[in-house]
Amino acid sequence: MFRKFPQLMQRRGFSSTTSAGFDKVGVIGLGLMGHGICQVAAASGAHQSVIAYEQEQRFLDSGKDRIFKSIDKLVQKEKITATKAEESMNSITFTTDVDALQDTDFIVEAVIENMDLKRDLYTSLGNICKPETIFASNTSSLSITEMSEFSGREENFVGVHFFNPVQLMKLVEVIRTEKTDPEVFQKAYDWVGQIGKVAVSCGDTPGFIVNRLLVPSLMQALLMVDRQDATVKDIDISMQLGAGHPMGPIHLADYIGLDTCLFIVQGWIEKYPDEPSFALPGCLVEKVNAGELGRKSGKGFYHWDGDKRGDPV
Ligand code: 3HC
Repeated sequence: MFRKFPQLMQRRGFSSTTSAGFDKVGVIGLGLMGHGICQVAAASGAHQSVIAYEQEQRFLDSGKDRIFKSIDKLVQKEKITATKAEESMNSITFTTDVDALQDTDFIVEAVIENMDLKRDLYTSLGNICKPETIFASNTSSLSITEMSEFSGREENFVGVHFFNPVQLMKLVEVIRTEKTDPEVFQKAYDWVGQIGKVAVSCGDTPGFIVNRLLVPSLMQALLMVDRQDATVKDIDISMQLGAGHPMGPIHLADYIGLDTCLFIVQGWIEKYPDEPSFALPGCLVEKVNAGELGRKSGKGFYHWDGDKRGDPV
């Protein structure tokens, strides 16, 4: 009798999603964050399939390559077995066909932070996907409420904010808007646990919890550089050895991407000009204008060789 229940629900037009989780999950965008989200979702074994979508084949290929390299690293370090790695990779369908997302239960969007792009994406997803599909944005600083309006399904919309590197960082902030259905929120919150992460809940406020605290502190470190209070290296050593942080603030800004940091702060300042903790250091603007974006470009406040940090510039 119990076995027939899901079929009955489907026949009556209910979502195939059960309290046990989502059968089919989609990830849109396989960049720095998206490839990691796709990887952890697949590795959790919590889903029948994971659909990895990129609009262009070259971005799909580079995302696939990133996942492959990360999994390979985990196998070499004996964190996972080769069999588990193969199972994870096999559960991902890589595609440039957006229609492959139409019957997914849950979609995490991790495309670049451009509201025009997200508006077009959510407008079309709202038309393509089945009505029950829950949308979740991994945005770090844009309004979840605004995106939910584009999607035409405000009650089925949340934020799920991961941290870099996704494979190692345990936290995910789950964001609710005024319109998010509490059941939808709970499903997203539970999903975070099912993929082996720890969820915290937050309203749709600038920077949510972590970035609201972290990014202003990174900016304060860079304002110290502007004022020549201390060197980049000494600021970083201080916060590592004096405050027990795994990376100093300027090392971390380079690691996140200086363009990303700048984008976050500029957006906040535009929207909240009277908030004193949102400040823009001159040295950050200079670096980004010079194309020195940190780890991703090989040079920022430090030299970088791939993921390995070198000396200060
Ligand atoms: N996949 C698989 N393995 C990985 C990996 C990846 N993507 N990245 C690193 N690893 C492995 C390394 O190979 C290494 O393995 P080993 O211990 O067996 O040698 C292990 O993970 C640890 O890596 P590291 O040697 O680089 O050493 P660390 O001990 O310094 O750990 C770290 C790295 C976890 C990144 C740590 O330095 C840290 O916690 N840094 C702070 C990160 C942080 O604050 N992130 C949040 C940024 S804010 C954000 O993302 C929000 C956004 O909206 C801006």
